[in-house]
Amino acid sequence: MKVLGVDIGGSALKGAPVETTTGRLLAERLRIATPEPLSPVQMGRALAEMVAHFKWRGPIGVGFPGVIYGTRILTSANLHPRFIGCDGGRLFSKATGCPVTLVNDAAAAAEAEMRFGAGRGFMGKALLLTLGTGVGSALAYHGTVVPMELGHLPWKGKSIEKHVAASVREEDELSWEEWGERLREYVAILEQSMWPELIIVGGGVSAKHRKFFKFIKPRAKLVPAKFLNQAGIVGAALAAAGGK
Ligand code: BGC
Repeated sequence: MKVLGVDIGGSALKGAPVETTTGRLLAERLRIATPEPLSPVQMGRALAEMVAHFKWRGPIGVGFPGVIYGTRILTSANLHPRFIGCDGGRLFSKATGCPVTLVNDAAAAAEAEMRFGAGRGFMGKALLLTLGTGVGSALAYHGTVVPMELGHLPWKGKSIEKHVAASVREEDELSWEEWGERLREYVAILEQSMWPELIIVGGGVSAKHRKFFKFIKPRAKLVPAKFLNQAGIVGAALAAAGGK
């Protein structure tokens, strides 16, 4: 089945048609930069631009950085606040004229990694973290993915993602070691309560895992996402294909 997979992020939306039986991208991905946070209506237009670029007619899977219940968006920590409470599925379907399935971005990435990537065939307990503008998270057990919001554990009165996200490393000009040390503490907290056997790290920065993995020192096996930053696109497409 062919599905247009789209990953909505803090600084851009990225998408490509995906063959959902293999997880392969069928065309070079398109990146539309969003230097300003787009309102839901503007995001719908950007999505329509993506659809026009690929001359797409068919199902679309959209990964969104927030809590998703059905077609509704419940939180929007790093995007426009007007997304909160918005029926994103309906809005995006209307804007594109195609059926849209919404999924949490990190759960999408986890789905792609468990089906075709670093977690392929792994039946134990795996934790996937995406390090980007925020921190995305999902657990997988026996290959079934459960979306989590572990970037919002409280830390000194704020969400811990404001302390450990990849964007914070850049903004605060932290060295790899300083940032790695923060990740080490964060991962230790997660391990204490979740005891994953495998931790998969995605997000753009996972391409540079050699620079910071050595500081994390987890109990679990730590691996970069196989799809690196493309897991979100592939997983969003898988969500729309519904296991096909
Ligand atoms: C959001 C999550 C999302 C993560 C990564 C967090 O701020 O609450 O839903 O998965 O950022 O984008």
